[in-house]
Amino acid sequence: MKFASGAKFAVLSFLCVMVFALSMGLALSSLLTRAVQGWEWENTAALARREVELRGIDTLLEAPRRAPLDESARQHFSQLMQGLPEVVRVKVWDRDATVVWSDEPRLIGQRFSDDDELKEALGGEVTVEIKTLDDREHAYERPSFNTLAEVYVPIVSRTTGQVVGVVEIYKNPIRLLTAIQRARIVIWTISLAGALSLYLVLFPLVRQVYGRQVREEALEAHAAELEAEVTARNREIETQREALFQTEKIAAMGQLLAGVSHELNNPLSTIVGYTQLLRLRAGSGPMAEQLEKIEKSAERCTRIVTNFLALARQYPPARQIIHLNQLVDDAVELLAYPLRIDGVVVVRRLASDLPQLWADPHQIQQVVVNLLTNAHQALRDVSTARRLVLTTRYERLEDRVVLEVADSGPGVPTDVRGRIFDPFFTTKAPGQGTGLGLSLCRGIIDAHEGTLRLEPTPGGGATFVIELPAAAPADTADTGRAAPRPEATPTRTILVVDDEPDVAELLAETLLLDGHRVDTANSGAAALMRIRDASYDLVFSDMKMPGMSGIELYDEIARRSPGLERRMIFVTEDNLNPAIRQFIDRTGAFSVSKPFEIGVIRRLVAVFATSPSTDESEVALRS
Ligand SMILES: Nc1ncnc2c1ncn2[C@@H]1O[C@H](COP(=O)(O)OP(=O)(O)OP(=O)(O)O)[C@@H](O)[C@H]1O
Ligand SMILES: [Mg+2]
Repeated sequence: MKFASGAKFAVLSFLCVMVFALSMGLALSSLLTRAVQGWEWENTAALARREVELRGIDTLLEAPRRAPLDESARQHFSQLMQGLPEVVRVKVWDRDATVVWSDEPRLIGQRFSDDDELKEALGGEVTVEIKTLDDREHAYERPSFNTLAEVYVPIVSRTTGQVVGVVEIYKNPIRLLTAIQRARIVIWTISLAGALSLYLVLFPLVRQVYGRQVREEALEAHAAELEAEVTARNREIETQREALFQTEKIAAMGQLLAGVSHELNNPLSTIVGYTQLLRLRAGSGPMAEQLEKIEKSAERCTRIVTNFLALARQYPPARQIIHLNQLVDDAVELLAYPLRIDGVVVVRRLASDLPQLWADPHQIQQVVVNLLTNAHQALRDVSTARRLVLTTRYERLEDRVVLEVADSGPGVPTDVRGRIFDPFFTTKAPGQGTGLGLSLCRGIIDAHEGTLRLEPTPGGGATFVIELPAAAPADTADTGRAAPRPEATPTRTILVVDDEPDVAELLAETLLLDGHRVDTANSGAAALMRIRDASYDLVFSDMKMPGMSGIELYDEIARRSPGLERRMIFVTEDNLNPAIRQFIDRTGAFSVSKPFEIGVIRRLVAVFATSPSTDESEVALRS
């Protein structure tokens, strides 16, 4: 218990006890005063009645009035006074309120019919009036008295039982008042002392009880605070655990995706490469269109694999100049058939003044496709008009390009709005959604310094808004991979090293197409044997091979055939892998990522073939 509250409690309880003591003192003293006075007046009345009886005053008053009283009557009356103690004056009234006798002769014969106490006494009641004497009355009294008690005692006839008069006795009440005063002092002393003792005895007890209660309340409040804190901490831990779980999940998923992507890259290289080869061979024949479709699908698979890798490893976008409207058209085209089947009306409001973007076309297209897919899935849940509106516009002030994807579906419920961009968050049935779509989209848009958000949609549905910076760098050279068919490349001897026979074969066939001499080796060791036996102008090498890796082969070639290592081109599944990146940065070696386009391979060879020095070829390739 704190001092301040303790002192307050002490003062309060003291005041309570004092109020109790005062009330008790007042009640007791007033009761006592009344009891003592009542007893005194009854006593006086009894004495007066006895004297009246003894002196036969009632008989005198009953007898016919002879004024003035004879001597014997006066004797009787004056004896009355002698028999009464502490009496200052006596008056005897007849029924007509006239003073019949008094020890003060001047009063005899006076009439006081308005005196209330007298009237009541004539009615048969003993009445008392305590009087503080004024000057007029002092004329009759001895000056030593200030207070007088006037006791009116009815005189009752013994024969008729009627009130025949009143005897008024003036008493000096000093003794009585002094006794009352003393009794009051005693009462007050007992009350106050009792209250004080009570306070002194009870206060520590009450304080103890009160203190315990206060402590209990404080403990309860503290416990509640602790509980709230623990709940908050638990929630925080839960959130952190959830975040950690998500991070771990993403990391695990990343590894899995990286593994899957890696495994897919080789077959994809074969598909893409052979399709391109077939297209070259088929020219504009009847197969051209089908081959183009296969090539596009294969390329799309390549992009998905690349994006999964990007999600898993946060790769930076490979930027080039792109036209957002074109990407939107492509994405709608891609999904046109399923959208049509489900009766979705697609409205395109594409701005004509849209500036170009400096962005990764595959990644941005993947974002648009994801948003369209989400909208399409949401629209399947409504039976009313299924509408999908794609709007592009240029925000001149901020120099930003905006794409809005709005649907007339059920919209995103308020309680999940804050979570839809979380990885693995999905409201779809198991097997129907992984919850990666929007998180991948946001990752891509963030990497492009843009924003992706969900906006309120008047009239229902969902509106996703993408904003991307419009400004393109000064060097806007398209680094497009489709290289022009090189003219007259000199014939070269090239070694292709890859543990995947399909990839090695594809590369060999591509190179043979241009008339080069090509040998293949399925491992680093086999490659070294080939190099020992023959001389090569160029070596294409896989990076990741069982036994000797591409990097180890580079070092070995540098040792055994110095100079040739500068004419190595690496084919990697993952050329953004930090270790590979580091190696390439350190050595300045060239790398092509799988799945590759055969145009790029042919261009590379052409440049190397026409530039005897590595430095020249580097300049040629990078320009
Ligand atoms: N257009 C939309 N209308 C209503 N809800 C949407 C819309 N787009 C996204 N959502 C909500 O956001 C959630 C997350 O979307 P996201 O694209 O990340 O994952 P998903 O679509 O469930 O699965 P995935 O895209 O991996 O197949 C969805 O499950 C859905 O609840
Ligand atoms: Mg989705």
